[in-house]
Amino acid sequence: MRVIVCKDYEEMSKKAADIVAGQLAMNPKSVLGLATGSTPVGTYKELINRCKDGTISFKDVTTFNLDEYYPIKKSNSQSYDYFMNDNLFNHVDIDKANVNIPNGEAADAAEECKRYEAKIASSPQVDIQILGIGQNGHIAFNEPEEELYSETHLTGLTDNTIEANARFFEKKEDVPTTALTMGIGTIMKAKKIIILANGAAKKDAVAALLSGKITTASPATMLNCHNDVVLICDEAAYN
Ligand code: PGA
Repeated sequence: MRVIVCKDYEEMSKKAADIVAGQLAMNPKSVLGLATGSTPVGTYKELINRCKDGTISFKDVTTFNLDEYYPIKKSNSQSYDYFMNDNLFNHVDIDKANVNIPNGEAADAAEECKRYEAKIASSPQVDIQILGIGQNGHIAFNEPEEELYSETHLTGLTDNTIEANARFFEKKEDVPTTALTMGIGTIMKAKKIIILANGAAKKDAVAALLSGKITTASPATMLNCHNDVVLICDEAAYN
């Protein structure tokens, strides 16, 4: 795993945007795997700026998001569909027909997971997958458990994740307790993975990731099995 330690969030975001922008320059038809949460917002801001100044274009880019709460309406301001439009897609020249997010409005969760997994499988390989990391070491909504799932699936959220996400909701009780998420195998299919971490709250999760050991108790550690992972973090998350 390549590790890039940055002095702060801004530098981390710029570094991640540099890699994504380089990929889009090399192949304007790139496929990007995208994440939600606070961590990638700065990276998306950078990419928006670069799109606005004409350095990059999303015109022919395809995207696959990692996860979505379930069930949730796309119009709900806490849905990841809403988040992605708000933080990236509404501000760049992407064709929304090429945007893929698990459908939180689907009537049948199992069918939706199958559909999403098949859509990823039928698309050209994801060139870069952007990931955040949970305080508990989760990636997407693959939570610490005795067994991890390989493919897209419906999952329950742990208390730790519900607690961490409660800041976006009026009260903790409003946080959905289930979600649709890519599995570890789905994520690992990407050619390259960029995992971002900032702030002291991520220190333990980053330490587990860098320990070189693999355990389902910290799902991100599975990334040690992938041959092209870049961890970009700030000093607070690294020390
Ligand atoms: P955060 O979430 O970026 O909001 O800290 C990261 C994650 O849970 O994967």
